[in-house]
Amino acid sequence: MARIVVTGANGFIGLALVQALAARGDEVVGFDIVTGPALHALCGRYANVRVVPGDISEWHHVANLLRDARPDAVLHCAAVVGVIACVDAPFATMRVNIGARSICSKPCGCSASGA
Ligand SMILES: NC(=O)c1ccc[n+]([C@@H]2O[C@H](COP(=O)([O-])OP(=O)(O)OC[C@H]3O[C@@H](n4cnc5c(N)ncnc54)[C@H](O)[C@@H]3O)[C@@H](O)[C@H]2O)c1
Repeated sequence: MARIVVTGANGFIGLALVQALAARGDEVVGFDIVTGPALHALCGRYANVRVVPGDISEWHHVANLLRDARPDAVLHCAAVVGVIACVDAPFATMRVNIGARSICSKPCGCSASGA
């Protein structure tokens, strides 16, 4: 059993990962700026799933998350996705899609890579 943080846990890939990891018995912390009913339903279904709301581009949110969760691994799926969303908010997109990778990876002692 591993402790795993999934960022972007409310998204398409994040939700599937949370479900799969929870079903195999891992302790999962799902982190997302939006926490919807599907993610909360997984939390209700699996005692080993916890939901933490927060913004991946805010250092203190990530620092608190990693300090509290003490994960063995971070699966980084949080992203601004789609051309329209990225064009509408280019600076926010850079903060999330580029900046947040290093925010996530540095405390874990690994290089910046994501989904
Ligand atoms: N869906 C695919 O087929 C596919 C294939 C290959 C790669 N990817 C990559 O996987 C990643 C996730 O894709 P997806 O399809 O699950 O996207 P998605 O839009 O469904 O999920 C992204 C999640 O990130 C969250 N998020 C956005 N900004 C955030 C922030 N500031 N703080 C915290 N959470 C934030 C959103 O709320 C959302 O739940 C992306 O990098 C995407 O490019 C997806």
